[in-house]
Amino acid sequence: MTAETACAEPAPLGSESDLFPIRVRGLKNVFGPHTVHENLDLDVRKGEILGVVGGSGTGKSVLMRSIIGLQIPEAGEIEVLGSPITDARDDDDIDIRCRWGILFQGGALFSTLTVAENVEVPLREFYPEIDDELRHEIARYKVLLSGLPAEATSKYPSELSGGMKKRAGLARALALDPELLFLDEPTAGLDPIGAAAFDQLIRSLQQTLGLTVFLITHDLDTLYEICDRVAVIADKRVIAVGTIPELLATDHPWIKDYFNGPRGRAALAANERQDRHGGAAIPAPLGIAAEQA
Ligand SMILES: Nc1ncnc2c1ncn2[C@@H]1O[C@H](COP(=O)(O)OP(=O)(O)OP(=O)(O)O)[C@@H](O)[C@H]1O
Ligand SMILES: [Mg+2]
Repeated sequence: MTAETACAEPAPLGSESDLFPIRVRGLKNVFGPHTVHENLDLDVRKGEILGVVGGSGTGKSVLMRSIIGLQIPEAGEIEVLGSPITDARDDDDIDIRCRWGILFQGGALFSTLTVAENVEVPLREFYPEIDDELRHEIARYKVLLSGLPAEATSKYPSELSGGMKKRAGLARALALDPELLFLDEPTAGLDPIGAAAFDQLIRSLQQTLGLTVFLITHDLDTLYEICDRVAVIADKRVIAVGTIPELLATDHPWIKDYFNGPRGRAALAANERQDRHGGAAIPAPLGIAAEQA
């Protein structure tokens, strides 16, 4: 099997939205003289973790912002969960917005709110009818689900380690029981043990909650560990989508350099070692404990 490439004719929108919760066709994004995307197509399959990679500045975050309606494209069509996306701030899109959760690059927690209050923000926005007690209870549950101790609920972001902030951001992203989870560089800045623990958390949440995950990352370990497929952005579009072996079979120089460079080889070796030992190289509880220490 070969990786799908942008040369293949993409299926029209409006069909098979139950199989592909995110579909992008002919996307174009321009900032002044700078064209970031041109003719970008992408299909995300239901229930997969799709890794999105590309050099810095190739437009990964802008693609995510376009999909969630925060970036109005110059041209193209985007369909999420069968609905066309235009401007997510419009009330029309409110049904869609409460069906996804987002962990932005950098976390974007409100610094003047505690962890629990941060998680309560989307609950207040989308479900104002929920009473205080139930809202606190839901927030507490999401915090625990994200691997934080109960004491973290009353802490402010400035009192948290980097890994704990990521988990708090994840708890907020899960607040509304989303079907889609968008993660922008979730393991950036974490130590390797914390990053591995976070990867396992994402995988286990994806499986237990049946999530479809759009995961932007530079972390090769994350790609090998938890991504079902990987989409590569280069030359202003998605140049290939597939499993890592499928991508390695393509002859695009950026893909070859990325996966065959020293870091790519190290990630592959670690992944093979782990496969031989039949399980996670680093048990999650140790990772969580180390990260919270
Ligand atoms: N609001 C904006 N105004 C002007 N230019 C922007 C804006 N947002 C993004 N860009 C530009 O678009 C390009 C793509 O940005 P983007 O943040 O999507 O890159 P990225 O692939 O996520 O990079 P990184 O891996 O460093 O996070 C960059 O050149 C960036 O400067
Ligand atoms: Mg980015």
